[in-house]
Amino acid sequence: MGDRELGVLVHGAGWVSGEHIKAFQNNPHTRVVAISSRKMESVRRRAQQAGLEGIGMYTDLDRALRHEGVDIVSVCTPQHLHAENTIQATEAGKHIVIEKPVANNMQELRAMRDAVRSAGVKTVVSFVLRWNPLFETLKSLIADDAFGRVYYVEADYQHHIASWWTGFEDARKKDTGVGAMLVGGCHALDAARWFAGQETEEAARVVEVFAYRGGWRKGTGLEYNYLAGTWSDNSPPLEYEGLEVFLLRFASGAIGKVSVNFDCIMPYTFPIQIFGDKGSVKDNRIWSHKFPGQKKWIEIPTILPDSADVTHHPFQGEIDHFVNCILNNRESHCNLEDAYHTHEVIFAAQECYETGRPVKLP
Ligand SMILES: NC(=O)c1ccc[n+]([C@@H]2O[C@H](COP(=O)([O-])OP(=O)(O)OC[C@H]3O[C@@H](n4cnc5c(N)ncnc54)[C@H](OP(=O)(O)O)[C@@H]3O)[C@@H](O)[C@H]2O)c1
Repeated sequence: MGDRELGVLVHGAGWVSGEHIKAFQNNPHTRVVAISSRKMESVRRRAQQAGLEGIGMYTDLDRALRHEGVDIVSVCTPQHLHAENTIQATEAGKHIVIEKPVANNMQELRAMRDAVRSAGVKTVVSFVLRWNPLFETLKSLIADDAFGRVYYVEADYQHHIASWWTGFEDARKKDTGVGAMLVGGCHALDAARWFAGQETEEAARVVEVFAYRGGWRKGTGLEYNYLAGTWSDNSPPLEYEGLEVFLLRFASGAIGKVSVNFDCIMPYTFPIQIFGDKGSVKDNRIWSHKFPGQKKWIEIPTILPDSADVTHHPFQGEIDHFVNCILNNRESHCNLEDAYHTHEVIFAAQECYETGRPVKLP
């Protein structure tokens, strides 16, 4: 590609797309050359907000993909469109940033993985917390043996998602959102895999999963606004259980527990616990054999994964990493092949709700 800037098409002009655009604008090797979405009004608004002039604007992905100079496509549409959009982008030979979750079932997941493999394009999936500063710090400490052999991890996505979210109308429905673990909890499952992986760029493989689901919000129109401390009861209902809990066994023998909780009455939190045979982690507090005579928890003063706001998410780190992968012709640790496994675990766990039995993978 020489010294030419990589051209970017952002598809789906909603909430998260603004952060993708900002990150590409800040990267010295990329330039946003086109935006596409369902409505031209959304495309224009997004372009204007980003100060982008003279770019391609489309309501049709096929035409947008033919815009001159597009090398990378960011898929920022609702999740039920990700597989179809990704396959279309692979057929046009583009590298792809795919928002999570990447697919709504195993058929879609396999089809998109096969399409990416045969096109030989690069991908990154937006498990963006891998670039959160606390995640980066903990991962490097794990790889540096600060906690020894990791034998137990926990991660929980606790977020009362509701109608304030522009994506809620699609995400709350069973046929387009599927379930809470897929919509939001996938971040927690990815985190557990990441922290159970002992090496710098390793996300651990799950060999067995068992799951329960429950909570109280399914079918109700009740919503809680924790900022105002108020309730409303006229929003469209969640069509699936807001609580799911997975127990995991990893290939290393380590065990994990992840949960998603859309029913919680509190602000967003993303608690993390990691236990190794030489130390432990509770969020940003660590205990390690590397500090002989340690008497108190050491608190790392860094940025925690403690906000649901996309402006707080480290998209810059994700995009810079992906551009680097493209320029240096190497695969991302967070590519579709890796995310395939996270999604496969979620779809396998759905069997537990029918059979009441653990499922072995693959
Ligand atoms: N990685 C993260 O941390 C993170 C954070 C937030 C969201 N996400 C994910 O990002 C995805 C998008 O979420 P969001 O919050 O940005 O949702 P959103 O605000 O609803 O944006 C989605 C956009 O997709 C467009 N769209 C809908 N149907 C379309 C179609 N058939 N063809 C073309 N465009 C279509 C809509 O465009 P119009 O306005 O033109 O109708 C809308 O603007 C979801 O999968 C979500 O889970 C990830």
